[in-house]
Amino acid sequence: MTDIDLSKPLKFAYWVPNVSGGLVVSTIEQRTSWDFEYNRDLARIAERSGFDYALTQTRYAASYGADQQHEATSFSLGLLTATERLKVIAAVHPGMWQPGVLAKFLITADHLSGGRACTNIVSGWLRAEFDGFGLPWFEHDERYVRTEEFIKILRGLWTEESFSFHGKYYDITDFTLRPGPVDVPGRAHPEIFFGGNSTAARGAAGRATDWYFSNGKDFDGFAEQHHDVSAAAAEVGRTVKFGLNGFVIARDSKKEATETLREIVAKAHKPAVEGFRQAVQEAGASTKDKKGMWADSSFEDLVQYNDGFRTQLIGTPEEIAARIVEYKKIGVNLILTAYLHFQEEVEAFGRDVLPIVREMEADLAEKNGTQLRIEDAAGAKVSA
Ligand SMILES: Cc1cc2nc3c(=O)[nH]c(=O)nc-3n(C[C@H](O)[C@H](O)[C@H](O)COP(=O)(O)O)c2cc1C
Repeated sequence: MTDIDLSKPLKFAYWVPNVSGGLVVSTIEQRTSWDFEYNRDLARIAERSGFDYALTQTRYAASYGADQQHEATSFSLGLLTATERLKVIAAVHPGMWQPGVLAKFLITADHLSGGRACTNIVSGWLRAEFDGFGLPWFEHDERYVRTEEFIKILRGLWTEESFSFHGKYYDITDFTLRPGPVDVPGRAHPEIFFGGNSTAARGAAGRATDWYFSNGKDFDGFAEQHHDVSAAAAEVGRTVKFGLNGFVIARDSKKEATETLREIVAKAHKPAVEGFRQAVQEAGASTKDKKGMWADSSFEDLVQYNDGFRTQLIGTPEEIAARIVEYKKIGVNLILTAYLHFQEEVEAFGRDVLPIVREMEADLAEKNGTQLRIEDAAGAKVSA
């Protein structure tokens, strides 16, 4: 725990349900909608409840039951203009965008939102989308070669004048974007997140990104990723921050929470989960060392399509808070959450779980000779 800064409060994010079907592939009741009105209200609830970020998903075609989808960058912009403090992270595939066009788009989004635009660079797994659009589908590790170049170009165009980059996939010559991103203290440019968990992903993330998103993991699984990404970053003199995905089932008793999990899995939409298992063979499972997302996922894991049950944020608010703080001790900086009933449960998380997390973080900091800078927590700003 020696290199963990315990004075920094954990950050909290939620998955934007901008695709239909909710965040679990199950016929259990989910009081969640993918339309804009629901999501606008959800974003406002989230920022009132102490959340820092919302993460949109990029999906162009039906899969795992997500039959309808809203496009990520335009949806994110809608949420940014409907809120005041929430940062919105738009997911983007390098294979679908030219980096200069995205850099420009995000600068404008940043200006429209007072410096709250962020992006999540994802290398993809749903080959059918690329094949259907007539776009090349690269072999797994090659996707990350392109992704690393893509991120370096975003950063270069956001921070330098007359920026040039001559790589394997992109040629940028003497380009200056005006205006640049909004000048926000403590931030060099719009924050860059990264979704991808294989060995190639860990290397690229370490060398290029600001934030690395882990899919759902137990303590050992997260620690392994933290080690690999940090080592790749250290080799080039960088550091990376870490987000961890977890599906939250907070109930009055552990028994009630566990029963809800059992019901989600019992009512899983089996053909959709099976179809998803087939499609994600294009991810980590297709690599030589078979490391990466979904490479060792069980049926139950795949019901929450980012392995969110593995993080085990399932129990009473106290139990969940305690587990979240254990993850902080091993290097998690941000918890990315999903729920069955987003609006109600985001609010309940802010009311019931977050205050306990803050108390535990303050205790932990004090025991280690420092103080939690609570003024840096999104919730603190809300109540101030
Ligand atoms: C937090 C997170 C969010 C992601 N969001 C998307 C997304 O919106 N669209 C998408 O096609 N893939 C998304 N992915 C999946 C990645 O594109 C990638 O296929 C996956 O992480 C597997 O990576 P790997 O092959 O390196 O293990 C996401 C991954 C993570 C961890």
